Amino acid sequence: MPITTCIFDAYGTLFDVAAAARQAASEPDFSAIAEDWPQLADHWRLKQLQYSWLRAVTDAHCDFWRVTQDGLDWALEKTGHHGNGALRDRLLQLYWELGAYPEVPEMLETLKSAGLNTAILSNGSPAMLQGAVKSAGIEGTLDALLSVESVGIFKPDARVYDLVGAEFGCARDEVLFVSSNGWDAAAATGYGFTTAWVNRGQDPVDRLPWTPAHTLADLTGIPKLAGA
Ligand code: LAC
Repeated sequence: MPITTCIFDAYGTLFDVAAAARQAASEPDFSAIAEDWPQLADHWRLKQLQYSWLRAVTDAHCDFWRVTQDGLDWALEKTGHHGNGALRDRLLQLYWELGAYPEVPEMLETLKSAGLNTAILSNGSPAMLQGAVKSAGIEGTLDALLSVESVGIFKPDARVYDLVGAEFGCARDEVLFVSSNGWDAAAATGYGFTTAWVNRGQDPVDRLPWTPAHTLADLTGIPKLAGA
Protein backbone atom coordinates (compact mmCIF):
# COMPACT_ATOMS: atom_id res chain seq x y z
CA MET A 1 0.00 0.00 0.00
CA PRO A 2 1.26 3.53 -0.66
CA ILE A 3 1.96 5.64 2.42
CA THR A 4 -0.95 7.95 3.29
CA THR A 5 -0.01 8.88 6.85
CA CYS A 6 3.27 10.03 8.41
CA ILE A 7 3.49 9.72 12.18
CA PHE A 8 6.27 11.21 14.27
CA ASP A 9 7.58 10.53 17.72
CA ALA A 10 8.06 13.87 19.51
CA TYR A 11 10.97 14.00 21.97
CA GLY A 12 14.31 13.39 20.29
CA THR A 13 12.66 13.04 16.87
CA LEU A 14 11.05 16.43 16.15
CA PHE A 15 12.23 18.19 19.32
CA ASP A 16 15.82 18.28 20.56
CA VAL A 17 15.67 16.89 24.11
CA ALA A 18 19.29 17.88 24.87
CA ALA A 19 18.44 21.53 24.16
CA ALA A 20 17.19 22.25 27.69
CA ALA A 21 20.47 21.30 29.42
CA ARG A 22 22.56 22.86 26.61
CA GLN A 23 20.67 26.15 26.88
CA ALA A 24 20.80 26.31 30.69
CA ALA A 25 24.55 25.53 30.61
CA SER A 26 25.11 28.60 28.41
CA GLU A 27 23.39 30.93 30.91
CA PRO A 28 25.57 32.66 33.57
CA ASP A 29 23.18 31.68 36.38
CA PHE A 30 23.70 27.98 35.62
CA SER A 31 27.44 27.79 35.02
CA ALA A 32 27.42 24.90 37.53
CA ILE A 33 26.55 22.60 34.59
CA ALA A 34 28.86 24.27 32.03
CA GLU A 35 31.08 21.18 31.94
CA ASP A 36 28.80 18.25 32.66
CA TRP A 37 25.53 19.22 30.96
CA PRO A 38 25.84 16.42 28.34
CA GLN A 39 26.01 13.78 31.11
CA LEU A 40 23.11 15.44 32.92
CA ALA A 41 21.05 15.44 29.70
CA ASP A 42 21.86 11.77 28.99
CA HIS A 43 21.00 10.61 32.52
CA TRP A 44 17.78 12.67 32.45
CA ARG A 45 16.62 11.18 29.17
CA LEU A 46 17.50 7.62 30.04
CA LYS A 47 15.79 7.72 33.45
CA GLN A 48 12.72 9.42 31.98
CA LEU A 49 12.40 6.54 29.49
CA GLN A 50 13.20 3.80 32.03
CA TYR A 51 10.52 5.14 34.35
CA SER A 52 8.01 5.16 31.47
CA TRP A 53 8.73 1.49 30.68
CA LEU A 54 8.69 0.47 34.34
CA ARG A 55 5.41 2.24 34.98
CA ALA A 56 3.93 0.52 31.90
CA VAL A 57 4.94 -3.01 32.95
CA THR A 58 3.93 -2.47 36.59
CA ASP A 59 0.55 -0.94 35.72
CA ALA A 60 1.50 2.27 37.56
CA HIS A 61 0.77 4.88 34.90
CA CYS A 62 1.30 8.58 35.51
CA ASP A 63 1.69 11.28 32.90
CA PHE A 64 4.95 12.03 31.08
CA TRP A 65 5.45 15.26 32.97
CA ARG A 66 5.73 13.23 36.19
CA VAL A 67 8.41 10.86 34.77
CA THR A 68 10.19 13.86 33.21
CA GLN A 69 10.48 15.46 36.67
CA ASP A 70 11.40 12.17 38.37
CA GLY A 71 14.08 11.48 35.76
CA LEU A 72 15.51 14.97 36.21
CA ASP A 73 15.64 14.59 39.99
CA TRP A 74 17.59 11.35 39.64
CA ALA A 75 19.94 12.92 37.07
CA LEU A 76 20.57 16.03 39.21
CA GLU A 77 21.49 13.84 42.17
CA LYS A 78 23.68 11.57 40.05
CA THR A 79 25.66 14.56 38.71
CA GLY A 80 25.98 16.29 42.11
CA HIS A 81 23.47 19.09 41.48
CA HIS A 82 20.76 17.85 43.82
CA GLY A 83 19.31 20.74 45.83
CA ASN A 84 19.91 23.35 43.11
CA GLY A 85 16.25 24.34 42.92
CA ALA A 86 16.80 27.23 40.52
CA LEU A 87 18.55 24.90 38.06
CA ARG A 88 15.77 22.32 38.37
CA ASP A 89 13.11 24.97 37.70
CA ARG A 90 14.99 26.38 34.71
CA LEU A 91 15.52 22.94 33.11
CA LEU A 92 11.85 22.05 33.52
CA GLN A 93 10.79 25.40 32.06
CA LEU A 94 13.08 24.86 29.06
CA TYR A 95 11.55 21.40 28.47
CA TRP A 96 8.36 23.18 27.37
CA GLU A 97 10.26 25.23 24.77
CA LEU A 98 12.67 22.70 23.26
CA GLY A 99 12.56 23.85 19.65
CA ALA A 100 12.39 21.60 16.60
CA TYR A 101 15.40 20.34 14.65
CA PRO A 102 16.16 22.73 11.78
CA GLU A 103 14.85 20.51 8.96
CA VAL A 104 11.45 19.89 10.62
CA PRO A 105 9.30 22.79 9.28
CA GLU A 106 10.18 22.29 5.60
CA MET A 107 9.90 18.49 5.88
CA LEU A 108 6.37 18.76 7.35
CA GLU A 109 5.34 21.36 4.76
CA THR A 110 6.46 19.02 1.96
CA LEU A 111 4.38 16.17 3.39
CA LYS A 112 1.30 18.37 3.75
CA SER A 113 1.72 19.78 0.21
CA ALA A 114 1.69 16.19 -1.07
CA GLY A 115 -1.64 15.59 0.70
CA LEU A 116 -0.34 13.19 3.35
CA ASN A 117 -1.75 12.98 6.87
CA THR A 118 0.74 14.09 9.53
CA ALA A 119 0.66 13.67 13.30
CA ILE A 120 2.70 13.30 16.45
CA LEU A 121 2.29 10.09 18.46
CA SER A 122 4.01 10.61 21.78
CA ASN A 123 4.32 9.72 25.42
CA GLY A 124 4.00 13.47 26.06
CA SER A 125 0.85 14.74 27.74
CA PRO A 126 -1.49 16.81 25.56
CA ALA A 127 -0.37 20.03 27.31
CA MET A 128 3.32 19.21 26.80
CA LEU A 129 2.78 18.46 23.10
CA GLN A 130 0.74 21.62 22.55
CA GLY A 131 3.48 23.65 24.25
CA ALA A 132 6.20 22.08 22.12
CA VAL A 133 4.50 22.50 18.74
CA LYS A 134 3.52 26.07 19.57
CA SER A 135 7.02 26.96 20.66
CA ALA A 136 8.44 25.38 17.47
CA GLY A 137 5.80 27.11 15.31
CA ILE A 138 4.74 23.89 13.54
CA GLU A 139 1.05 23.68 14.57
CA GLY A 140 -0.14 24.37 11.02
CA THR A 141 1.58 21.34 9.49
CA LEU A 142 0.30 18.67 11.89
CA ASP A 143 -3.20 17.21 11.61
CA ALA A 144 -3.22 15.71 15.11
CA LEU A 145 -1.27 15.50 18.35
CA LEU A 146 -1.88 11.96 19.60
CA SER A 147 -0.92 11.44 23.25
CA VAL A 148 -0.65 8.20 25.21
CA GLU A 149 -2.87 9.87 27.80
CA SER A 150 -5.87 8.73 25.69
CA VAL A 151 -5.04 5.11 26.54
CA GLY A 152 -3.23 5.53 29.89
CA ILE A 153 -0.09 3.52 29.10
CA PHE A 154 3.28 4.42 27.61
CA LYS A 155 4.94 3.22 24.41
CA PRO A 156 5.61 0.65 23.17
CA ASP A 157 2.27 -0.83 24.25
CA ALA A 158 0.27 -1.66 21.09
CA ARG A 159 -2.70 0.35 22.38
CA VAL A 160 -0.62 3.46 21.76
CA TYR A 161 0.06 2.55 18.12
CA ASP A 162 -3.67 1.76 17.74
CA LEU A 163 -4.36 5.50 18.17
CA VAL A 164 -3.12 6.11 14.60
CA GLY A 165 -5.71 3.88 12.90
CA ALA A 166 -8.42 5.22 15.21
CA GLU A 167 -7.59 8.80 14.23
CA PHE A 168 -7.05 8.43 10.48
CA GLY A 169 -8.94 5.22 9.61
CA CYS A 170 -5.86 3.93 7.78
CA ALA A 171 -4.38 0.44 7.56
CA ARG A 172 -1.09 -0.25 9.34
CA ASP A 173 0.82 -0.64 6.08
CA GLU A 174 -0.21 2.86 4.95
CA VAL A 175 1.66 4.39 7.88
CA LEU A 176 5.25 5.63 7.87
CA PHE A 177 6.23 5.81 11.54
CA VAL A 178 9.29 7.93 12.30
CA SER A 179 11.22 7.82 15.57
CA SER A 180 14.72 8.62 16.81
CA ASN A 181 14.21 6.02 19.54
CA GLY A 182 15.46 2.71 18.19
CA TRP A 183 13.19 0.74 20.55
CA ASP A 184 10.12 2.73 19.40
CA ALA A 185 10.90 2.24 15.70
CA ALA A 186 11.55 -1.46 16.36
CA ALA A 187 8.28 -2.01 18.26
CA ALA A 188 6.33 -0.08 15.61
CA THR A 189 7.82 -2.40 12.98
CA GLY A 190 6.50 -5.34 14.98
CA TYR A 191 3.11 -3.64 15.08
CA GLY A 192 3.01 -3.49 11.27
CA PHE A 193 3.96 0.10 10.42
CA THR A 194 6.62 0.92 7.88
CA THR A 195 9.30 2.51 10.02
CA ALA A 196 12.13 4.99 9.79
CA TRP A 197 14.69 5.21 12.58
CA VAL A 198 16.34 8.65 12.76
CA ASN A 199 19.74 7.75 14.12
CA ARG A 200 21.37 11.16 14.67
CA GLY A 201 23.92 9.78 17.12
CA GLN A 202 25.04 6.80 14.97
CA ASP A 203 23.96 4.45 17.73
CA PRO A 204 24.08 0.66 17.34
CA VAL A 205 20.80 -0.96 16.36
CA ASP A 206 18.70 -2.18 19.29
CA ARG A 207 18.77 -5.93 19.84
CA LEU A 208 15.05 -6.59 19.66
CA PRO A 209 12.92 -9.03 17.66
CA TRP A 210 12.19 -6.35 15.01
CA THR A 211 14.39 -4.04 12.96
CA PRO A 212 13.35 -0.63 11.55
CA ALA A 213 12.74 -0.74 7.79
CA HIS A 214 14.80 2.39 7.11
CA THR A 215 17.56 4.24 8.96
CA LEU A 216 18.26 7.92 8.29
CA ALA A 217 20.73 10.41 9.75
CA ASP A 218 18.08 13.15 10.00
CA LEU A 219 14.55 13.92 8.79
CA THR A 220 15.35 15.39 5.36
CA GLY A 221 14.80 12.04 3.59
CA ILE A 222 11.31 11.45 5.03
CA PRO A 223 9.26 13.01 2.18
CA LYS A 224 11.04 10.79 -0.37
CA LEU A 225 10.43 7.68 1.76
CA ALA A 226 6.76 8.65 2.02
CA GLY A 227 6.47 9.15 -1.73
CA ALA A 228 5.80 12.91 -1.34
C1 LAC B 1 7.95 10.32 22.85
C2 LAC B 1 9.22 9.89 23.49
C3 LAC B 1 9.39 8.43 23.56
O1 LAC B 1 7.84 11.45 22.34
O2 LAC B 1 10.31 10.41 22.81
O3 LAC B 1 7.01 9.51 22.86
